[in-house]
Amino acid sequence: MPSYSLIAPAKINLYLEILGDRSDGYHELAMILQSIGLADQINVRSISTDSIVVHCNHPQVPTDQSNLGYRAAELMVRQFPKAFAKYGGVEITLNKQIPVAAGLAGGSTNAAAVLVGIDLLWKLGLTQSELEELGGTLGSDVPFCVGGGTAIATGRGEQLSPLPSLDSIYIVLAKYRSLEVSTAWAYKTYRQQFGNSDLRDSDNLAARASAVHSGAIVKAILDKDPGEIAQKLHNDLERVVLPAYPQVLQLQEVFANQEGVLGTMMSGSGPTVFALFESQQQAEEVKLQVREAIIDEDLELFVTRTITHGIQVVSSV
Ligand code: C5P
Repeated sequence: MPSYSLIAPAKINLYLEILGDRSDGYHELAMILQSIGLADQINVRSISTDSIVVHCNHPQVPTDQSNLGYRAAELMVRQFPKAFAKYGGVEITLNKQIPVAAGLAGGSTNAAAVLVGIDLLWKLGLTQSELEELGGTLGSDVPFCVGGGTAIATGRGEQLSPLPSLDSIYIVLAKYRSLEVSTAWAYKTYRQQFGNSDLRDSDNLAARASAVHSGAIVKAILDKDPGEIAQKLHNDLERVVLPAYPQVLQLQEVFANQEGVLGTMMSGSGPTVFALFESQQQAEEVKLQVREAIIDEDLELFVTRTITHGIQVVSSV
């Protein structure tokens, strides 16, 4: 049976501003999302039964309908019943490298890879924007994960404006294995503590969403200036996550004290903290220094870099 093997990169947020509450329970956002080299490998294969089967190497990742990749396959079955009848069921194998519940869009990028893989398996010929639209019904970060690179994301996070690619800014990611933050909890807590009524004024909202396009961090990205980008990192969710999770704050403090760190911030709803570097060597050195400064086997550290793409097909059989 035909199969496709795909690379599904993680993302970090270089910027996350909460513009206000929405009546659907979500939040209106202005973000800058960046794909990184840390990635899962996904295999998508047609099978002769008419079922969806998910396998995963990570014990914490569910393989039932609560898995976002599973839900992506269900969505394709619902949207394209004729293709499903013609090609049969789908077996999805997730080889996870991206930490789970980490603020790195691990689940979202798996869902994006399943959409791309089934589009190929079933020879649907969907465009990137059609895949993004389907992805938006699964989760706010899924559309970005399809094409990846560097982009401004507004609305729930699903409205994308690409930015010129930022290649090879080096990154150290730090995450405590046993520490997970629920994205829903982070936004709900933010709403309780800092919620506002800005959204009732839609003109004001539109102006604030478009302000990010001319903001200082976008200028730094256009200038391809890693030092300046690192100075302009911003994440409103730190206001609720850092007080609740002191270890996340401690990671930032340890990074901030190391030589060569251009800037450090929590990604998305956390708890992953990242630091930016000009060179791979500096990133590798700081990884070792953080390992020495925090003696804790629960702490995972990764060296990676910014990349210019989202889902990529690596082989087909
Ligand atoms: O869209 P997604 O399912 O990935 O979002 C996970 C949770 O994060 C949502 O259930 C919601 O609580 C919160 N969220 C939000 N506003 C957004 C995106 C996510 O409140 N723009």
